[in-house]
Amino acid sequence: MRVTTNPQEAAAALAAGHLAALPTETVYGLGARADDPHAIARIYATKGRPADHPLIAHLADIQALDAWGINIPIYAYQLAKAFWPGPLTLVVNRSPRAADFITGGQDSVAVRVSGHPLMREVQQALVLITGDPAIGIAAPSANRFGKVSPTNAQHVIDELGAFTTENDVVLDGGDCEVGVESTIVDCTGDHPRLLRPGAVSLEQVKAITGLPCTTDSKVRASGTLESHYSPVANVELITEDELLDLGFADATVGLIALAHCATPTGVVRLCAPETAADYAQQLYSALREADALQLSTVLAVPPTQTGIGAAIVDRLTRAAHSN
Ligand code: TXA
Ligand code: MG
Repeated sequence: MRVTTNPQEAAAALAAGHLAALPTETVYGLGARADDPHAIARIYATKGRPADHPLIAHLADIQALDAWGINIPIYAYQLAKAFWPGPLTLVVNRSPRAADFITGGQDSVAVRVSGHPLMREVQQALVLITGDPAIGIAAPSANRFGKVSPTNAQHVIDELGAFTTENDVVLDGGDCEVGVESTIVDCTGDHPRLLRPGAVSLEQVKAITGLPCTTDSKVRASGTLESHYSPVANVELITEDELLDLGFADATVGLIALAHCATPTGVVRLCAPETAADYAQQLYSALREADALQLSTVLAVPPTQTGIGAAIVDRLTRAAHSN
């Protein structure tokens, strides 16, 4: 795959039916035009992802929501207005535009408007090329199925380069700001249901909609499989006290923890973020670094489980779950 920093080049590749890995504020996505079944089939092949796992359609703007959904509740519009463009995905009842090859045959579709400036340029360029203001870019995270999501262009090349062609591109937009995948909210019921925690918190969803936000959705989401986001190394969650008791470990053990936690003798410090937001931003690079160093184990002291901390604990727990 070719690397470019030009969003027009990425849009042209998409328009021609090729794949384009694209930066968003959360993680990099592996994009294809959402009206092209052959291009979409290549996303599944490139990721090694089962065909019944639905994709997120990335839209140019909030107006396109009505072209993709039907019977959209007021609270979904409230969320879109409050957080788009941004790190939020809404699952709504699908319109005929959301084909089976996007939704995995489900009656709902996941849609998102990203705020990354390069992604926005790609979306706008594709609208101009196709003449379709609601054209979607279907994009899952640009990693092999079940693995850690990429947060920079080099991660994408390392992970997917061998499975792509010279016509596919990766648009280099530097490091992703958020670092973990978007919050997903199921908007098919009478109140919002959280499917995947992210930078938009459950507390924010409640505050904006004035409704309860529960976690009892019956909708399937692969990012909610028990084992996901997994490096090769074994991930173990430990508390700060357990870390203090550890004292010593051998050099095949890595540590992810906030900066104030000291590194036990012998342990490889993978990152030392100052805040929970920095923790999220550095988490996936740290997990990749552990594999690059061929560490056997990654110890992770999670931050408190509020705000984006909930998303970090969620991803670490799934990374820690073996098979
Ligand atoms: O931040 C993100 O959301 C990134 C960037 C690239 O947008 N995308 C991403 O896509 O994480 P992916 O495919 O790796 O994860 C999307 C999740 C999957 O777990 C999928 O099952 C779920 O969204 N999903 C998609 N459509 C759905 C639907 N109709 N109902 C329920 N879940 C859905
Ligand atoms: Mg993913």
